[in-house]
Amino acid sequence: MKIKIKIINQLIDNYSYLIYDIDSKEALLVDPAEANPIIKFISINGIKLKGILITHHHSDHTSGIIQIKEKFNIKVFSPNKKIIGTTDLVKDKEQINFGFINFDIISTPGHTLDHVIYYCKQEKLLFSGDTLFYYGCGRIFEGTYEQMLNSLKKIKNLPNETQVYCGHEYTYKNLEFILDELVHWQDRGDIKQKCRKLIKEKGSSMPFLLGLQKDWNPFLNCNDIHYKKGVSDFHKNKGQIAPDASELEFFTYIRDKRNDF
Ligand SMILES: [Fe+2]
Repeated sequence: MKIKIKIINQLIDNYSYLIYDIDSKEALLVDPAEANPIIKFISINGIKLKGILITHHHSDHTSGIIQIKEKFNIKVFSPNKKIIGTTDLVKDKEQINFGFINFDIISTPGHTLDHVIYYCKQEKLLFSGDTLFYYGCGRIFEGTYEQMLNSLKKIKNLPNETQVYCGHEYTYKNLEFILDELVHWQDRGDIKQKCRKLIKEKGSSMPFLLGLQKDWNPFLNCNDIHYKKGVSDFHKNKGQIAPDASELEFFTYIRDKRNDF
């Protein structure tokens, strides 16, 4: 049995993902916004769609549900009964089994209160929606900063080898934020260029390795003394944040700073 992930560009910078077994062609779909490109891929490749997994209620993750559901008559797993088309509500710590793949549900409030992420231990896959981004994290719209921080800590506890697929292509902007506003990295030009090349050549920076994010994603390093010292010493942060700021103070500072970037 072999699992493949088809990355499907949606809207301006959203991603939907089709997770399928290359032998049986059974598949699940994550966060569809635009149905047409998804239906086209499914039809051309003889994919047998079994269900949709939704991370949260925002329309750029859900607006394709109805058209796809009408076409394929499938189940829609979501964390919120208000999400139109939902057939099965998912809750924290539940597992959903599809035979060809299983997912653990992890509740990650902060970006929205209903947000969940889908983790497959066997395949080492995580669909992180708008909670964890490559080099970043989602904006806090409904929850508190503390909730978001705790949600990110849950992700940090997952294995380093986990391949993460997130909801948006914000990678380059997140990287620019780190390099321009947070820390001094010597090879900054090289890092930026590599990132730009990756996105241009592959069309996407997905997936990314969780282990590396544990080292480089600022929002996963709010309790790291060395990281905090580096940020507080950086010329643009002088006097703004103390090196001994609490984890939550530091997280709040960098999240607010990213909002204005
Ligand atoms: Fe969102």
